[in-house]
Amino acid sequence: MVSEQATRSMSENVLAGNIASDRPRVFSGIQPTGNFHLGNYLGAIRNWVDQQDRYDNIFCIVDLHALSQSTTRRSLRENTVNLANVLLASGLDPLRSIIFLQSDVREHSELCWLLSSVTQYGELRRMTQFKDKAAGKDEQVSAALLFYPVLQAADILLYETNLVPVGEDQKQHIELTRDIASRFNARYGQTFVLPRPDIKPVGARLMSLEDPSKKMSKSDANPNAAIALTDDPVTMTRKIKRAVTDSGTEVIATPDKPAITNLLTIFSLLSGEPIAALETRYAGKGYGAFKSDLAEIVVAALAPIQLRTAELNANPEIARSVLAEGADRARARAVRKMSEVRERMGVGID
Ligand code: TYM
Repeated sequence: MVSEQATRSMSENVLAGNIASDRPRVFSGIQPTGNFHLGNYLGAIRNWVDQQDRYDNIFCIVDLHALSQSTTRRSLRENTVNLANVLLASGLDPLRSIIFLQSDVREHSELCWLLSSVTQYGELRRMTQFKDKAAGKDEQVSAALLFYPVLQAADILLYETNLVPVGEDQKQHIELTRDIASRFNARYGQTFVLPRPDIKPVGARLMSLEDPSKKMSKSDANPNAAIALTDDPVTMTRKIKRAVTDSGTEVIATPDKPAITNLLTIFSLLSGEPIAALETRYAGKGYGAFKSDLAEIVVAALAPIQLRTAELNANPEIARSVLAEGADRARARAVRKMSEVRERMGVGID
């Protein structure tokens, strides 16, 4: 029988990079750009939490990515601490996962530059996320927005990542990461593991509550489009009740009812009940009753996370120490990988 103490020191050693874990490596990231929403939670964070025991996990608050769009010193700081606390409050456990801040490990920026030499400008220009964000303002968007996926590739490739749990919108960036890694390996010899996206069949693309043809997004100018993790119960309930619905009155998930399908998806993920069971329960009851119950489910699911986040926000030293320790662990791995990459590319002298 392995004692709890022994198990803990084993997992600490694995996390510290002192011994290899035989579990697949997971890496994922999230930007500290405020207004984290239900899409971030159900498409990413909750899956990270649920899978912690299965993998060797690294989760990163990508503050350098957040600089690709306009930020202020103050908002970046506040959003970073708040996001760390949201992740902890949602159940990420520093004993089972490395949680760290991207800018604390300088190797991310260095690898980004080196990988840019095997990335084509055309590939970056064609990224959907870049095209959406740069649409109509090519001359004004930052070059960082264009380079964004190279930094993301660096994040992932630094840690020999096998799996990247993300929402659907990140699939193209993971595919580009694979292309960059393959090109590097072909040119310089086998160096990088090719990562696979881990995208769940349900919840990987929650849609706007105001327009079910658009994804729920942090940058939506309309605050009613997304349920923010910080919304109070009255606001959440109001947003759900005013959410657009489809023509007709039936509560069913079909392609011609994208709005109600989106709400059913949220209900099912938070309550654990299959969509088919919900369709039966609400048959003939109309949208009103369904939305009232959904509002209750959402409020109840997020309340404990909000409460814990508020407690942690009142004690910012907890997040500070988790991130500092996480950075030490991540750095130990990143430094090793970078010296291999520099050596392969011939950067530096013997
Ligand atoms: P970010 O911060 O935009 O989003 C964080 C995670 O939330 C998912 N997500 C959604 N899932 C379902 N429905 C939605 N409407 C929705 N909106 C967002 C995202 O897919 C993501 O998983 N580029 C990344 C951050 C990043 C990263 C990385 C991710 C940087 N480096 C390395 C993985 C690996 C991003 O902007 O996430």
